[in-house]
Amino acid sequence: MNKVVLVTGANSGIGLALCERLLSQDSEDLQLVLACRNMRRAQGACAALLTSHPKAQVALLQLDTSSISSVISAAREVKLRYNRLDYLYLNAGIMPNPQFDVKAFFKGLFSSNVVTMLATGAGILTQKDDVTSDGLQEVFATNLFGHFLLIRELEPVLCHTGRTSQLIWTSSINAHRSAFNLEDVQHLRGTQPYSSSKYASDLLSLAINTHYNKQGLFSSVICPGFVMTSLTYGILPSFPAFLWTLLMPLFWLIRMFTNNFTLTPYNGAEALFGLFKQNPESLDPQVKYHSLTSGLGNNYTQPRKMDVDLETSEVFYDKLLQLESDVRKKLKEKQI
Ligand SMILES: NC(=O)c1ccc[n+]([C@@H]2O[C@H](COP(=O)([O-])OP(=O)(O)OC[C@H]3O[C@@H](n4cnc5c(N)ncnc54)[C@H](OP(=O)(O)O)[C@@H]3O)[C@@H](O)[C@H]2O)c1
Repeated sequence: MNKVVLVTGANSGIGLALCERLLSQDSEDLQLVLACRNMRRAQGACAALLTSHPKAQVALLQLDTSSISSVISAAREVKLRYNRLDYLYLNAGIMPNPQFDVKAFFKGLFSSNVVTMLATGAGILTQKDDVTSDGLQEVFATNLFGHFLLIRELEPVLCHTGRTSQLIWTSSINAHRSAFNLEDVQHLRGTQPYSSSKYASDLLSLAINTHYNKQGLFSSVICPGFVMTSLTYGILPSFPAFLWTLLMPLFWLIRMFTNNFTLTPYNGAEALFGLFKQNPESLDPQVKYHSLTSGLGNNYTQPRKMDVDLETSEVFYDKLLQLESDVRKKLKEKQI
């Protein structure tokens, strides 16, 4: 039976590399749905995939995860087209207006935390967030809440007795508990909305397993490592492309010490691709699956325990349900 796989943020970077890898493994028994906000780029990605896999079944779906109405209409469209969804990759993400703290970077270079700093970006990256037209913090809405609402809307095609479906979140090594606050889940008051949203996805994945495993729905999180994509190039927007190229030997050197430097989208998609082949029932809900690349360039996936607990995940889940109910109420009022 054909497997239906939906990937959000599939038009570039790690999402597109995942699609390419899935089709390279099996281009005929998959129905791949590229869920993207920019349809022009989505069409370009689709054309590229079909050039290398002419027999593949690739469909497009318009989805802006930062917009409540877009998520609801995309989910409606999925339910019309498919009666089940086997894999939902929750990959779309932003890190807007990143500020690179050069002083903290150089200080970190000569500290005992140098490897952690280089591997996780801890202490050197902050962002300026925005507010969406729905009144939500943009990073929270894009990276987490839009995906949460999508899952809720897609329950009828994700939850079936006697069959499993799998959610796979692209989280980050930058998901720090210290950036997340249960009293400020949208991260209105802080300067690390990205880290907060990624920690939130780790917590949510755990809560989803608690609430949905009995209905055949399983959730896992991965970290792609440090990958050169438009998201990472955005950290230093004024840095010319040739300087990034000059930095590559340094990055390969760093990879000798921290295998998190996966660098290419293909390598970064290793854990996403690996989980596609796993039985979701055998996966540990408290673990994050890391894409890693050795100094010699070999890819592998390593499970590492997450810094999450059931109690916090439950409180967070209840807060998301409350926010979902508020958002739906507002939407109804708008429509009247
Ligand atoms: N690169 C890294 O080192 C790294 C490390 C850890 C985690 N990650 C995570 O990996 C995921 C993929 O990022 P990437 O590195 O591959 O960067 P990327 O090339 O910029 O890909 C991000 C994707 O998300 C999409 N997207 C952004 N906002 C969206 C929205 N509101 N609705 C729908 N789609 C939206 C983008 O679409 P548009 O073309 O429309 O912008 C793009 O397809 C993200 O969740 C990111 O946080 C990346």
